Amino acid sequence: MDNTNYSVVSEFVLLGLSSSRELQIFYFVFFSMLYIVIILGNLLIIIAVTSDSSLHSPMYFLLGNLSFFDICQASFATPKMIVDFLSEHKTISFSGCIAQIFFIHLFTGGEMVILVSMAYDRYVAICKPLHYMTIMNQTTCTALVVISWAVGLVHTLSQLSFTVKLSFCGPNEVDSFFCDLPRVVKLACIDSYITEILIVVNSGILSLSTFSLLVSSYVIILVTVWFKSSAAMAKAFSTLAAHIMVVVLFFGPCIFIYVWPFTTYPVDKILAIFYTVFTPILNPIIYTLRNRDMKAVMGKIAAHYLRPPKVAEMSFVARISLY
Ligand SMILES: *[C@@H]1O[C@H](CO)[C@@H](O)[C@H](O)[C@H]1NC(C)=O
Repeated sequence: MDNTNYSVVSEFVLLGLSSSRELQIFYFVFFSMLYIVIILGNLLIIIAVTSDSSLHSPMYFLLGNLSFFDICQASFATPKMIVDFLSEHKTISFSGCIAQIFFIHLFTGGEMVILVSMAYDRYVAICKPLHYMTIMNQTTCTALVVISWAVGLVHTLSQLSFTVKLSFCGPNEVDSFFCDLPRVVKLACIDSYITEILIVVNSGILSLSTFSLLVSSYVIILVTVWFKSSAAMAKAFSTLAAHIMVVVLFFGPCIFIYVWPFTTYPVDKILAIFYTVFTPILNPIIYTLRNRDMKAVMGKIAAHYLRPPKVAEMSFVARISLY
């Protein structure tokens, strides 16, 4: 990053969500609670899918990894935002800002590919049920996760490579609660028009292509079950409804922010909350409240951790039931 050596901006000022004192205290409480729920909910999913053998299937393997992405996604900017609600000077160092840009594109890029992998998993399960176990074997699952991280990494490194040429020599107020790339680029002293186009094209290609892959896999699944039975249709639809909700809430804001980036709207920073806070909380809600297997395992985990005196008794019962 030697090109940015002569920049005089050593830190950025984040304007945050609001400047009203009362509102900030309300946000502090609200987002702190939300953040705790996100971390606990997603940790619970990871513990459930890794520890319980009834959940050892490709779908839950990918779900566990989605939860991991969610924890990362919720953690790169939200804790700082929460602390900032209480501080007068909401500043972030130059390198902190670059780190936030790096992580947001790494995690969002990866999460997009993980969502496509989960849709592909449902496609194989519903449209090619007889080949499910051969297609979605351990190697495929691991490959899908590795590809997600690799796509996220390539995406974020290319975004940063467009940005390093810029120099920042004065204006340093970012009107958001984290260093959002389109807003940071606008502060550059040299003409950033080409950079903005490159950033948009890069994000646009990734989000629109993964989005169309998702939509087409859902359409293929629905058309396939349409010809089977209405019971199959209802079952597939209830599974897909959960996926579709995540996809709309996640991609909607991403596409809105990055496809109309030349004018930044005040609503952009509200939309950014969707993919940093609301999507990560959706998975635990959707997958634990709607899914019978998951609920059973959550019940077991709760019984194990919340009622320690009964543990010995339970394993005794488990031992008896083996005979
Ligand atoms: C996520 O993927 C990795 C690598 O493929 C795997 O080892 C891990 O168990 C997965 N995580 C969960 C929670 O399923």
